[in-house]
Amino acid sequence: MDNHKSYLKTLESNAIKSLETLQTLEEIENWRIEYLGRKGKLSQFFQSFKDIKNKNKNELGTIANDLKISLEQYYKKKINSIKSSKLKINEIFDYSLPGKPNISGSIHPTIQMMNEICNAFSSLGFNIYEGPEIESEEYAFDKLNIPSNHPARDIWDTIWVENTQELESLLLRPHTSPMQIRIMEKYPPPIRVVVPGKCYRYEATDNTHEWHFHQIEGLVVDTNINFANMKSTLFEFARLIFGEQTKARFRCDFFPFVEPGAEMSVNIKDDEWLELMGAGMVHPKVLQNVNLDPEIYSGFAFGLGIERAAMIRFGINNIRDFYSNDFQFLRQFN
Ligand code: DAH
Repeated sequence: MDNHKSYLKTLESNAIKSLETLQTLEEIENWRIEYLGRKGKLSQFFQSFKDIKNKNKNELGTIANDLKISLEQYYKKKINSIKSSKLKINEIFDYSLPGKPNISGSIHPTIQMMNEICNAFSSLGFNIYEGPEIESEEYAFDKLNIPSNHPARDIWDTIWVENTQELESLLLRPHTSPMQIRIMEKYPPPIRVVVPGKCYRYEATDNTHEWHFHQIEGLVVDTNINFANMKSTLFEFARLIFGEQTKARFRCDFFPFVEPGAEMSVNIKDDEWLELMGAGMVHPKVLQNVNLDPEIYSGFAFGLGIERAAMIRFGINNIRDFYSNDFQFLRQFN
C-alpha cells in the first residue's frame, strides 16, 4: 500500500513540475498524453490496480481518482494561461515593424511602350485603331501590292491558318500593314491613324527576332502629303519618345506598298544606329486598290517594332526576355 501511495505522490509532483515548465500547446498536449492519455501513466496505474491485493484498495482508488481530477484541472489551467498570454502578445502592435510588401502585378514593358507610342502619336493628331490578328491573304499581301509568287513575299515568314470550309487563305498577320487597307476602305481621307497590335512570323528566334511581337502601323492620307511631312512627323515622334536630343536618319529601303521606301534609324550612341521602323510614301497602286485616285491623294505610312523601341529605350539586349516570363526581368518595369 505505501509503495503505491508513494508512487502516486511522485507521479503527482513530477507531473506538476514538468507541466510548469512547458511553453507551447504542442508540449502540453504531449504532457497530457503522457499522464492522462489512454495509455498514459495514470491509465497504466488503473490497469495494474485490479491485480493489487490490498485491504486498502478503496483508499488507493480514491487517491488515484483525485489525482486524475487534479491533473486534469492543472492541465486546463495551463492551457488557458498559455492561450491568454498569446493573446497579450498579439494585442501589442509594434508600429515600427515594416509593412507587408504589397505584391501587385504591373503593366508589361511592351504594353507600356505601346501606350507611350500611342500617346505620342495621339498628341500629334493621330487616331488609334485596332485590327484582327487573323488576316486574309488578300489584305495581308495582295492589296498591299505583294502578289502571290512575287519574291517580295519572302520578307514575311508566314504562319498560315488551316482552311476551314469556306474560310480560305487565312494567316496570323505577319505585320500590321493590312490595317492600312482596312482603314482606307472604311474611312475617306483625311486619314491620320496609328494601329498597334500583335504580329506573328514563322521564323527562328534570336536576340532581335521573336516569332511573335508587336508593331504599330501608321498611315496618313490626304491631298498634298509629301515626304517632308513624313520626315518631320517621324523625327518629332523620335524626339517625343527618346528625348529632345535624339538624332534620327532615313535611308533607302524597299517595301512593296510604298514608293519611295525608307527605314528610319535612331542614333543610340556615337555612330551606333538602330533600325526602328520602315516607312515610305503610299504606293499609287495601293491607293488604287482602295479606289483612291493617286492624282488627287497622297500619303505616307510607317511600321514600327514596339519591342525594338522598348529595347532602345530600356537598354534591353535580348528580345526573348520580353516573353520568357522571368519575374526578375519583369519587376524592373513596375
Ligand atoms: N510592314 C513592314 C514590316 O513588317 C513595315 C513597314 C514598312 C510598314 C514600311 C509600313 C511601311 O507602313 O511604309 O516589315
